Amino acid sequence: MDKKVPFVNFKRHWEKYGKEFMGVVEDRLSRGELILRQDVLDFEKNIAELVGTKHARGVNSGFDALHLSLRALEIGPGDEVITVDHTFVASIAAIHFAEAKPVLIDVGDDFNMNVSQIESVITSKTKAIMPIHLNGRMCDMETIMRIAKSKGLAVIEDAAQALGAKFNGKIAGSFGEAGCFSHYPFKALGALGEAGAVTTNSAEIDEKILLLRYHGIARDEARTQKMFGFNAVLDNLQAAILNAKLKHYNEWISRRLEIAEKYREGLGEIKDLRLPHFDDKRYFDVYQNYAIRSDKRDELQKYLESNGIETQIKWPVPNYSYDWYPYEQKPLPNTEKICREVLSLPMYPELTNEEISYVIEKINEFYL
Ligand SMILES: Cc1ncc(COP(=O)(O)O)c(C=O)c1O
Repeated sequence: MDKKVPFVNFKRHWEKYGKEFMGVVEDRLSRGELILRQDVLDFEKNIAELVGTKHARGVNSGFDALHLSLRALEIGPGDEVITVDHTFVASIAAIHFAEAKPVLIDVGDDFNMNVSQIESVITSKTKAIMPIHLNGRMCDMETIMRIAKSKGLAVIEDAAQALGAKFNGKIAGSFGEAGCFSHYPFKALGALGEAGAVTTNSAEIDEKILLLRYHGIARDEARTQKMFGFNAVLDNLQAAILNAKLKHYNEWISRRLEIAEKYREGLGEIKDLRLPHFDDKRYFDVYQNYAIRSDKRDELQKYLESNGIETQIKWPVPNYSYDWYPYEQKPLPNTEKICREVLSLPMYPELTNEEISYVIEKINEFYL
């Protein structure tokens, strides 16, 4: 075996599926099916079916999904949205660009929103809670929905990393007013470029997303101009690719679960490691990432790197700690601790058993 285990391996993905996807691309290009064609409509039907919502709209990215959802819910200047810092910066940026204020609370040991802190930060300005289902694991939606309902708050789920994950048997993106997905190429369901989706059970929100994503122009025959909007439509070619990829999605998730189980078996005995297995039957995790925690994280990462194994730190510092961060924010101790300890191991369906064994072997060797 070539002693290199990259963090992602698109080349291998392409070797396996490239021919199938090129067939789709060639067909759509030869027919000029470029903008808002049938593939986008099919994708929206497929996602709504998978998530179990009445509607879904294809947009250009996970960021657009979040930003447009906030705007569709008329959340803006003077409003506050409760979320976490331990997320990709785009979640917080979406609130910022909707001109509302992000109010960040801490996360628990499963990397997700510590729901016991929500009520303490609710003010008269709070309009929504934005749970982030990180690493393919959902937040405690029972508590979040209960609080939201009792306080009259909207819930916008950032499900960018959680397509197919479940809580109490219900799928990510089907709990709140809106569910937001990213289909960035290295997501579990990734396009060949930027892509995203919004799911909702509300016809009104769905209609607003439709207008906001394409210059405020209605899809009626007259193409009525109804408002100002953005240009954030899902590209038709990407929709066609995503539809083709959806046929493989269950198989890919099964493989992710298999890899997670192999990591658990091979690394479970190492005292310094905290693995992402939380044994709570309410959750079905899809392992978008396999994020471990270690007190010796930096040395471990270096050791793996010197053995050809690529890992990533998501994320090394909280977003609020940057000089340019524009909002006042209390420190979040568990978020900061996770920043010091977290390390993501390679996790993708094309990873071979040999590569997984090699990663396990080298981690065990580090702790000898
Ligand atoms: C949790 C989370 N939210 C939002 C996003 C933004 O998605 P995109 O990169 O498609 O804009 C991502 C993407 O990495 C993400 O992981």
